[in-house]
Amino acid sequence: MGDRQDRQGNRRPQKPQSQPGAQSHPGKNKPGKKLVPYQLKKPVFFIGFMGAGKTSVARSLARMCHISAVDMDTYLERREQKKIKEIFAESGEEGFRQLETEVLKDMIAHAPALISCGGGVVGREENRRLLKDAGFIVYLQVSVGEAAGRISDITTRPLFQDIEQAKRIQEERAPLYRAVSDVAINTKGKGVKRIAFEVKRVLEKEGILCRPQES
Ligand code: S3P
Repeated sequence: MGDRQDRQGNRRPQKPQSQPGAQSHPGKNKPGKKLVPYQLKKPVFFIGFMGAGKTSVARSLARMCHISAVDMDTYLERREQKKIKEIFAESGEEGFRQLETEVLKDMIAHAPALISCGGGVVGREENRRLLKDAGFIVYLQVSVGEAAGRISDITTRPLFQDIEQAKRIQEERAPLYRAVSDVAINTKGKGVKRIAFEVKRVLEKEGILCRPQES
């Protein structure tokens, strides 16, 4: 990855610049066939509880539209050269939240992308304001039971160690997710692609995602 150093070191990006840690790239896959990316007018943030499918849905939609998807936690781990559970162990939740806010600001400073946020991003008032001011916010709703089934390795989620703890946190956050979001999508019983299509329809209707112009 040629741009890795850039991603980790560059905290004061200059515009225009593509997103750091982008997971999908416009028109990258088919040699000879130029894939024209959709236009994204502003960042789209995916919020919701751990296991809601934020990262998978953002990636799936990015692939459909040949635009970039970035995962905040992946970017944070690369930037800090540490796993999230190590950051929690060394600096506690507060230390992690501080880094999370810095990463959110980094994301906002770059070109619009589909950004999957960590489930706890809505906890800080500062973050909620940053999200609201900068982008369009998609809330993916999931029950704790369904979320538990979707997380393959629970040890990677320091705040999802048991169902009771997870239920308590989700109850605290649910009003914040609802208040900050522009649209809420219930993911119950739906596959990633179907949810991605649903989000696509909403973004097109809102004029945030635009089809490529025919040339
Ligand atoms: C957290 C969710 C995680 C990660 C961290 C804290 C939370 O991200 O940011 O473990 O507080 O809900 P995902 O929502 O992607 O699992």
